[in-house]
Amino acid sequence: MHDLCRPRPQAASTPAANTSSQEATIDQAFLGRALHAPERGAIEALTDALIVVDAAGVITTVLDAGSDEERAVAAHFRDAGRLTELSAGQVLIPGLVDLHVHSPQWPQLGMRLDLPLEQWLQRYTFPLEARYADLSFAAEVYPVLVDALLAQGTTTAVYYATIHVEASVLLAQTCLAKGQRALVGRVAMDHPAECPDWYRDASAEAGVADTRRFIEAVQALPGAETDLVRPAITPRFIPACTDALLQGLGRLATETGCHIQTHVSESDWEHDHVLARCGASDAESLDAMGLLTRRSVLAHGVFLSGSDLDLLAARGAGVAHCPLSNVYFSDAVLPLRKVFAHEVNVGLGTDISGGANASMLNSARHAVIASRLLESGVDPDLPRRDRRREGARITVAEAFWLATTGGGIVLDTAIGLFKPGYAFDALVIDPSRDLTTEPSDTPEELLEKLIYLGGQANIASVWVAGRRVK
Ligand code: GUN
Ligand code: FE
Repeated sequence: MHDLCRPRPQAASTPAANTSSQEATIDQAFLGRALHAPERGAIEALTDALIVVDAAGVITTVLDAGSDEERAVAAHFRDAGRLTELSAGQVLIPGLVDLHVHSPQWPQLGMRLDLPLEQWLQRYTFPLEARYADLSFAAEVYPVLVDALLAQGTTTAVYYATIHVEASVLLAQTCLAKGQRALVGRVAMDHPAECPDWYRDASAEAGVADTRRFIEAVQALPGAETDLVRPAITPRFIPACTDALLQGLGRLATETGCHIQTHVSESDWEHDHVLARCGASDAESLDAMGLLTRRSVLAHGVFLSGSDLDLLAARGAGVAHCPLSNVYFSDAVLPLRKVFAHEVNVGLGTDISGGANASMLNSARHAVIASRLLESGVDPDLPRRDRRREGARITVAEAFWLATTGGGIVLDTAIGLFKPGYAFDALVIDPSRDLTTEPSDTPEELLEKLIYLGGQANIASVWVAGRRVK
């Protein structure tokens, strides 16, 4: 909380309030220093930005550099009590976009990472997820999760829920009530060889029917007409789904135009399993099922080949890079430079709980560190030239782009930038805690400190679609 952040009427996009004509007249503005990344690898600093946001939470105007016009517009909003002014040390950044979260796994975050993926699913994760048949368990966990992610600056989250329609709808409701932008997926999984009989869809038809019922229920929620929260078609991953289920979900995706999320080429086991079963890679198989679209969000992709990446690029599908999770389940680092070179859309995810950290600032940090380890190699018993992958590193500015702009591009949604037409999803950063910043720091230096040292304590307030949510 900051003295200089004036209170304002809770208005713009609270779901229930959205249709009221009284609310529709309320716009607002933000004044202060802002940083964002329109181009991958470069930070743009708006030193004296006035960002005007309409009643729907969409940016209408960005004025910079202290012009007469800016002063006049700022005075108008100040007089009306609808100007949020940052203090001298504070800085506004776009909200963070987490492209990959398993919401039911929240209770096991930070533990149980001692087994490979295929054993981890059976031993720990399916039993935990099965508990969400009990709606009261979901009602205990989901509000805590959404609050925790908002507090850490995740303004958009792409969630897997479980196979249970009611509990999955409850997650969507929770996001709407708390004002978090979200894609929410009811997980589809029916393969008897990979899913226990106590946690799987009864049949491919039942999996498709429950997915359809879920989509319709989310779209019917009060407030869903704002598109703040949308349903996503969510085949868990190819090994857990029969061909009939994947094909049925592909048809549903064509029919509804919904987003799709799944895992792709995550580990040796998973990649080889799909090759053996389908005679094709994950990417080729998903494409054949109608599941590779401009609205597909594919987690991991560590083992995507060059031709797989070309296929993703041709379809406009995006990758959710989850660097910490890859340490535990992929046994390898996603070569981001290769993904960039093939011009595939890509952003970042935490992969809660496969990634043992909920913070997207940390995910950006881990993306930088993982890329450095990929570049240097890690086995000191190999000669230097044999352990290196030259040029694999990414910069902090690129990691920041991934966590903001890149995530927005993957989702085909106007978020992640301070530009007219983009939603005002933003964090007020207060560097005064633990960041050792100096007034002379360049924007790049400030961001470097934020990503290497920053955390929840530095996030003074959080805004989604113009609504203050922290
Ligand atoms: N593949 C299928 N299910 C999962 C999951 O829950 N987490 C991860 N990381 N990979 C998966
Ligand atoms: Fe995952």
